[in-house]
Amino acid sequence: MNNTKKITILAIESSCDDTAASVIVNGNILANVVASQDIHKKYGGVVPELASRSHQENIVPVVERALKEAGVLQDQLDAIAVTQGPGLLGSLLVGVSFAKSMAFSLDIPLIGVNHLNAHIAAHYIEEPKPTFPYLCLLVSGGHTRIIKVNSTVNLEVLGETLDDAAGEAFDKAAKMLGLEYPGGPLIQKYAENGDPLNYTFSTGKVDGFNYSFSGMKTGVLNFLRKGMQKDPDFIKNNMEDLCASVQYTIVEYLLSKCVAAAKEFGLSQLSIAGGVSANSYLRERIKEESEKRNWEVFIPKFEYCTDNAGMIAMEGYNHYLAGNFSSLEMKPYSREVNQ
Ligand code: KG4
Ligand code: ZN
Repeated sequence: MNNTKKITILAIESSCDDTAASVIVNGNILANVVASQDIHKKYGGVVPELASRSHQENIVPVVERALKEAGVLQDQLDAIAVTQGPGLLGSLLVGVSFAKSMAFSLDIPLIGVNHLNAHIAAHYIEEPKPTFPYLCLLVSGGHTRIIKVNSTVNLEVLGETLDDAAGEAFDKAAKMLGLEYPGGPLIQKYAENGDPLNYTFSTGKVDGFNYSFSGMKTGVLNFLRKGMQKDPDFIKNNMEDLCASVQYTIVEYLLSKCVAAAKEFGLSQLSIAGGVSANSYLRERIKEESEKRNWEVFIPKFEYCTDNAGMIAMEGYNHYLAGNFSSLEMKPYSREVNQ
């Protein structure tokens, strides 16, 4: 008879505009449910009030679906993991309050999880997994960081953006081009048939492994304004080349610093995490660079790249094993410094 206790955790993610729930049993994800909010599309960005209202509507059905898909009953749960921050406070509050009440009523531990570390934990969901230390480029809508991952709990930030995040750069450029939010996937789509070298945009010259995207944003805006003055259909007629050039600029900039960091720290395992790691050009280019240099590349499956609760579940499971629990008084935080 096998007496090994199964560790079953329900994880909840509500930091931005996706309501998500996942169930993990002994480190294996059994369900990964996401309800995305289309309502923000027409506003060109996430509207915080609308996001938290949608989380309130979605959270019960999403959690119920995750438990059902996993074939797990509430009283079989050993802990509830939830995104504590960073993110939109009103959105985080919905997930955190729900998780607290569930943990309280089931009398099981609560585990507050850092959303950014969870994006990195997405690498431990499926094989092949990187071994420590490895380099991770974390690129999402709110953050851009190069991290030396020494262990699941020892994350050394080597550099980060000084202003906009890479995902934000995609989204803002897309908005200028008249595309809906989130702009990253649409820029990728139009870029497929465009010439990436047709237009040149400059990127921020900042020290070390840091990034700056605000200069590029202004550059794109001024360039589009000039183009539209000459030809009111400039954007429409050149959408594919414009998207390809924007994507090329962002991706090559991201990559150049990653390559430099890998060299400086003598790391030969490279990984990408966060929503922008869904970008096919970034995936292709990082693989190309790695083949050239004999590096190993790790990219989580698409569904674990953009916001999801599977990554929260994996990070929560690691906390559970380390005995890292949160009190029921735990509060969400919008920025890391407020922790
Ligand atoms: O990690 P994520 O889902 O949410 C945050 O924590 O921010 O990242 C969302 C970001 C958005 O800026 C979105 O435009 C970008 O990821 N993104 C992409 C792609 N898919 C999502 N950017 C470029 N290409 C994509 N295929
Ligand atoms: Zn994220």
